[in-house]
Order: sequence, then C-alpha cells, then structure tokens
Amino acid sequence: MNWENLIINLECIDSLPTLPNVFLRVSQMLNDPMVTAKKLAEVIETDQAIAMKLLKIVNSPFFGFSRKIMTVQDAVVLLGFNATKNTVMTISVIRTLNHESKVEEFNMQDFWKHSIATGLVSRYLAKKTQVDAEKAFVAGILHDIGKIILEQYFQEEMEKVLHLMRTQKISFYEAELQVYKGTHCDLGSYLADKWNLPLPLIEVIDMHHTPGEASEEPKLVSVVHIANVVAKQLGYGCTRGAKEDELDSYAFARLDISASQLEEWAEDVQAYVEESQELFQILE
Ligand SMILES: [Fe+2]
Ligand SMILES: [Fe+2]
Repeated sequence: MNWENLIINLECIDSLPTLPNVFLRVSQMLNDPMVTAKKLAEVIETDQAIAMKLLKIVNSPFFGFSRKIMTVQDAVVLLGFNATKNTVMTISVIRTLNHESKVEEFNMQDFWKHSIATGLVSRYLAKKTQVDAEKAFVAGILHDIGKIILEQYFQEEMEKVLHLMRTQKISFYEAELQVYKGTHCDLGSYLADKWNLPLPLIEVIDMHHTPGEASEEPKLVSVVHIANVVAKQLGYGCTRGAKEDELDSYAFARLDISASQLEEWAEDVQAYVEESQELFQILE
C-alpha cells in the first residue's frame, strides 16, 4: 500500500483513538481568562485515573517540589496552568496509545521509554537554548506517535519497514519511504491534527526528521530532532538494528550550538535521564 491509499484507509477508520474527555475540557478551560485552579482541579478530578497519575508525577523528584502535594488543586497551583495542561496531555496521550503491540518486532515498552527519554533530553536541551522547556518535554514524548498508527492499523507495512530497515541497515524513516512512500511523521501529524493538538506540537511530530522545513517553531523542532538522536545514543532506542539517524546541521545552526558543545553536555544529559527514571511510572 502506498501513502495515498494508506491515508484513504485512515480516513475510513472510524475507530481512531480519541483523547480522554478531561484533556479536551482542560484545554478549553485554559482559553478562558477567568479560569481558576479550583475549577481546573475539579475537572481533572472527574477522571480519577488521570488525577492519581498527575499527583504521582508531581510528587516525583522530577518536579523537585520540597513538600508532598496532596490535592490536585495544589498540584495545579504549583505547576501553573500550562504545565498542568501539558502533564494532563502527556498522561492522556500515553493512556490512549499505550497498549499491547500488534507487531511482534515492535516493543511497546521500548517505544515509550524512547519517547520519554526523548522528552527528557528535549527538556534539558531546551533549557540550554532558551526554548520553552515544558513544551519541549511534551513535544519530545509525542514526536513518534505516528509509529503507533502504523503498528495499530497497518501491520503489514510496519513489518515490511522493520524488515527492510534491518536487512538494508537503513533508518526506520528511510525504510518507510521505500515501503509506502510516507512516514510516521505524516501519520502522526494527521492524528495530532485530528486531536486538535497545538500547532507547534503538530509541527514537531511532522518535522522532527526534517527540522529545516519547520516554520512555526523551528527551534523547538530542532531541539526534538537532536534529542531523538541523543536518546538513542543513550540506549533508549525503539528500532533495534537500524542505522543511526544523522543529525541535521540545520538544527545545530538554529539553536546556535555545536556538535562539540553537545558532546560536552553528554554526561550531564545521561545523568539527568537516569535521575528521572521514576517518570517511566507514567507507563504503569
Ligand atoms: Fe521519528
Ligand atoms: Fe524517535
């Protein structure tokens, strides 16, 4: 099947995953200038699973709050509205898309570990390069969601891609282009668009392999582009046997950093990802 047929098939699927209602309500509420932490907390609490996970995450050392946060309202106050929305979005997307893999060669656990590690490295790099760190964190976590579409609805194509990638020692992205003339970037941005995710996130999902094409937030896309490769180098890859992705010099130029600068940060980045391991609890 080629890209055109794939997208036609996708249009016909009426069971595409949808995000939990609570996320949609939280997003809408933030457009209202009169919103309060209390109101936001009440909405989040209508979904107990999301509320519990939010509390678990804000109490992890990752956020570094010195006291234990007992209520959702406290969490909203301490995080602020935007970080709350981002965290609820991350929990929602993972809950929606994290399931048993339908493709034997594709390990779902490894996929999410790669995604979270990319989120963490993105957050680290964002802080170094004056990019919104929390936005970069979410963008990093979501960058590869198109792979889930492929795995979930187009198993035959996914299997062919993985096979080609390993036998020809090419990247997953290059193999996709050969197999169906499209990529997980196209599929992921299609889904993100259906979900009405913010434009900069759609762009990251669409262009994390081609950062030079970004127009909305090229620095954010560049951060995730580099973080994706760094996460793999740190051992958090999800496509074993692939050729290592190449770093686009555009991303370095856009962020005004050099490859040697990145190397200098390597140890620090590694320690940061390891310290934040408790975030993998989002998957439980
Ligand atoms: Fe990717
Ligand atoms: Fe990736």
